[in-house]
Amino acid sequence: MSVSYMTHPLIKHKITLLRKETTTTGEFRKLIEEIAMLMGYEALADLPTTEIEVKTPIETTRQPVLEGKKPVIVPILRAGLGMVNGLLALMPLARVGHIGLARDPETHLPREYYCNLPNLIDERQIVVVDPMLATGGSAVAAVDSIKKRGGKKIKFMSVIAAPEGVSALMQAHPDIQLYVGCLDRCLNENAYICPGLGDAGDRIFGTL
Ligand code: PRP
Ligand code: URA
Repeated sequence: MSVSYMTHPLIKHKITLLRKETTTTGEFRKLIEEIAMLMGYEALADLPTTEIEVKTPIETTRQPVLEGKKPVIVPILRAGLGMVNGLLALMPLARVGHIGLARDPETHLPREYYCNLPNLIDERQIVVVDPMLATGGSAVAAVDSIKKRGGKKIKFMSVIAAPEGVSALMQAHPDIQLYVGCLDRCLNENAYICPGLGDAGDRIFGTL
């Protein structure tokens, strides 16, 4: 598995603002969407292209366009939903699948409660999004589920990751590409990322 850590100063700046306890729900939503768009720009740099003929007002020429079936964005519910619009701003025609996973507060193990993916999933570039990669349990389960349904070309984008989550995902799915906004220090006793930003789902949906 390849892991790319974001180095762009705009991404770093926005992640810092996202972490602040005083960042409001509205600001948080806007920031996470912007970060997803900036990370998406980097993560999608290897999308395949093919040439088509276009007629400009000057002459006819062959120029590149995206090749193949439309990519699919797959947010892990709930928090992943906050990243979808940022990616749709880059790829308005992308399909959107959904995977519902909730972490048990005691065991920290994920439980799948929903999965809906577009057809021909095996032919599409899949971009799984979830702001937080903590123990990695949810990420591993989401990729397991997508692969079980035929998904092959998988990228995973997380805004903040713990080293434990990166290792778990690398070990379980060495074939995927992982994009991380910022690698944090560790997990605490409740499997929350430190310094992190708290509960991403609660901060996006105002359910604190
Ligand atoms: C959070 C987060 C990830 C998961 C990460 O979701 O959005 O999906 O925890 O933790 P892990 O790497 O240890 O699995 P949560 O289960 O709290 O659900 P929510 O998005 O509905 O709040
Ligand atoms: N889920 C979150 O939303 N935040 C964490 O720090 C860990 C899991």
